[in-house]
Amino acid sequence: MNFDDLLGRLSLEEKVRILTGQDFWSTHPLPAIGLRSMVLSDGPSGVRGAVWDERDPSLNLPSATALSSSWDVGIAHRYGVVSALEARRKNVDVVLGPTINLHRSPLGGRHFEAFSEDPVLTADLAAAYVAGVQELRVGATPKHYVANDFETDRFTANVVVDERTLREVYLLAFEKAVTESKAWLVMSAYNSINGATASENDLLETPLNTDWGFDGVVVSDWTAVRSLESAKHSQDLAMPGPVGAWGDALVEAVRSGEIKEDAIDRKVRRLLALAARVGALEGYEKPADPPQVDGIAFARTAAAEGTVLLRNEGALPWRSDELTKVAVIGHNARDARTQGGGSATVIPESVISPLSGLRTALPNAEITYSIGAVVQEGVAELPPATMTNPQAGEPGARVRFLGADGSELFAEDRFSSALVYLGGNAPIGESAVFEFRTTWTPSESGAIQLGFASVGRGRIFADGKLLREDTAVPVGNDLGAALLSPPSISTPLEVTAGTPIDVRVELDVPKLEGGLSNALSITVGVEPSNDDPQALIDEAVAAARAADVALVVVGTNSKVESEGYDRTSLALPGRQDDLVRAVAAANPRTVVVVNAGSPVLLPWRDEVAAVLATYFGGQEYGDALSDVLLGRAEPGGRLPTTWPREQEDVPVINVTPKDGVVRYDEGIHIGYRAWLKAGTEPAYEFGHGLGYTTWELSDLRANDPSSVALTVRNTGDRAGKHVVQVYVERPESALDRPVRWLAGFAVVRLDAGQAREITVGLHEHAFEHWDNEWATEPGAFTIRAGSSISDLPLSTELQVR
Ligand code: BGC
Repeated sequence: MNFDDLLGRLSLEEKVRILTGQDFWSTHPLPAIGLRSMVLSDGPSGVRGAVWDERDPSLNLPSATALSSSWDVGIAHRYGVVSALEARRKNVDVVLGPTINLHRSPLGGRHFEAFSEDPVLTADLAAAYVAGVQELRVGATPKHYVANDFETDRFTANVVVDERTLREVYLLAFEKAVTESKAWLVMSAYNSINGATASENDLLETPLNTDWGFDGVVVSDWTAVRSLESAKHSQDLAMPGPVGAWGDALVEAVRSGEIKEDAIDRKVRRLLALAARVGALEGYEKPADPPQVDGIAFARTAAAEGTVLLRNEGALPWRSDELTKVAVIGHNARDARTQGGGSATVIPESVISPLSGLRTALPNAEITYSIGAVVQEGVAELPPATMTNPQAGEPGARVRFLGADGSELFAEDRFSSALVYLGGNAPIGESAVFEFRTTWTPSESGAIQLGFASVGRGRIFADGKLLREDTAVPVGNDLGAALLSPPSISTPLEVTAGTPIDVRVELDVPKLEGGLSNALSITVGVEPSNDDPQALIDEAVAAARAADVALVVVGTNSKVESEGYDRTSLALPGRQDDLVRAVAAANPRTVVVVNAGSPVLLPWRDEVAAVLATYFGGQEYGDALSDVLLGRAEPGGRLPTTWPREQEDVPVINVTPKDGVVRYDEGIHIGYRAWLKAGTEPAYEFGHGLGYTTWELSDLRANDPSSVALTVRNTGDRAGKHVVQVYVERPESALDRPVRWLAGFAVVRLDAGQAREITVGLHEHAFEHWDNEWATEPGAFTIRAGSSISDLPLSTELQVR
């Protein structure tokens, strides 16, 4: 594509203008040259669209950790296609994903959003996702380039990491998405890498452009372009806009000769190429109509494929004809977490909880529900069915933005009490007060905590009476993150089921700066009361004792896993560990489901009959879980990351910058590599996951460094899925190497008794190391194949020259 002609028709001002967004989510159009605005949207587990609004819902896919648990590039590809379909449906041109930072530490706040602790598993799945998205002429954006593997002080922290580690681990995770899947964009991160912030870092040129042949657009993470200096680098598009560090100052800098116009032209060419690719530039072919794919059915399949059966003492699958009474227990069984918090959040039309999924799957069984232990922290939104809009008399709420003199500047009817304004029409900057009103009809009687979660000073009224006025103060200085996971203020109130209450919350609109000047978020709702935790456990135990089986869904909450901060503890919040122990003691057929986006500690794991890790299962979570519990689907997952026994065993447990610096001193030894090096036993190792049948592997042969062949046999009595994993070792080496490292993997699905010879492709750098360039240490490598990092029955040798 040659854009010289178009470039020649643009003034310097026009060229510079299109290099900064026109608003929060879109680029500037230039109608004179047939360029329309392009919309960019998060991503990565669904596509939100240009507004954050329940009136325009999105498909909520399982989290990246669930996707990576499938170890299936076919699923990752379909995940990309379904995301692109959502993008096309919502007029989105670019999906801001996949997130391919690594699970360097399980404390990383966006762990749920990234794939794995292993760069090869990450690279293969990310490349398949990118190919799937772009097949439908939607741009994919591998992010955040690079070493953005923690959240604390994420805007300023400097990661110190050696070149070999960068190339072999952190960059390797990105490489294939660019070299093979030809990603149309890459997002530069907030952090610095070896002293230079990502948007001014030479890594944007090498390896990205020079070695990997990237010809797309480097878009900044939101507000990550902070200087004119970044315009000299291979940073192409600054988001969001319209105000940013470039603009008039960049025009001046070009005029004064400080920055070459060629550098600007290069960026503009790339932006035009992106526009041509997504169909935003006249004269280039428009995308064909997208195919029909059932996204909801895919979300259900993907969730089952990403469900990891960690332990099974003959308890699963259940036989539905044997179940007359099931005790479903756990806060997350009813209020499931289907996605992580922060910019990755989408608003699904509806969510199937484990409780409702099981009720549908077992229509003839008696299913009891006990909360068991409170997990939620802070205010949760009011159930939409309990809200009536006082103005319209219909379901929902009325919200208004008021000027300093009390005049109404903007008003709208909403159906949710969790509202996020980022972009959109609401005149937030000009407003003094935001008001939310609904007539709320509680479904249960008792003492509750009514309140709001937001940033700023607010007032809570019930039936016209002011109950509390106070300021919600965020923890930390990451205002963007605080908007998406805001602090709560609440007040006690006695309510009666069925008796409506006029709920009104006023918020003094906080004056935020820069990219957030037109942003506001507020959730009006109820905080859980937790006066007598032991009574909740006792009630669950009684239910479990009276049932054939007990299903306990444990998990995290939005205060534990969200963008903008790291976790501090791997323990399950609240009394959940006590709950599981008590239920397991009461019912030997206790199955525990772990609804967390990242590893958590499971100290009772050997006391229960079965444990399933589902990660965040997406909107069809409950149906997918029922499919697995009842054996209608195979638990298709294998762990993409090591799950520890104890927090102190975790190799990288400190993610807090010291004097602004995070040292990746462990080098190439992250994840299972570090566990192997230390010789510590985890709770569940990398690659682990059971199915419902048994397998035998045999006849491993390595012909050359690009692939191995072996025979896989399903020795059980039902069809199943197996993930064959191939690792490489170098027993005698002059280099510091991992004990073993993942080189390739393949998914095999076979009927009972069936056998198949398969070929497993090995990663192109599997036998190489970085020494200023990719290099090989000649000699014998051991190749091992099996079912996890430590279950490797087969081995062979390969001489590499
Ligand atoms: C996140 C990105 C996201 C962007 C836009 C940033 O805070 O780090 O992952 O794409 O916001 O929402």
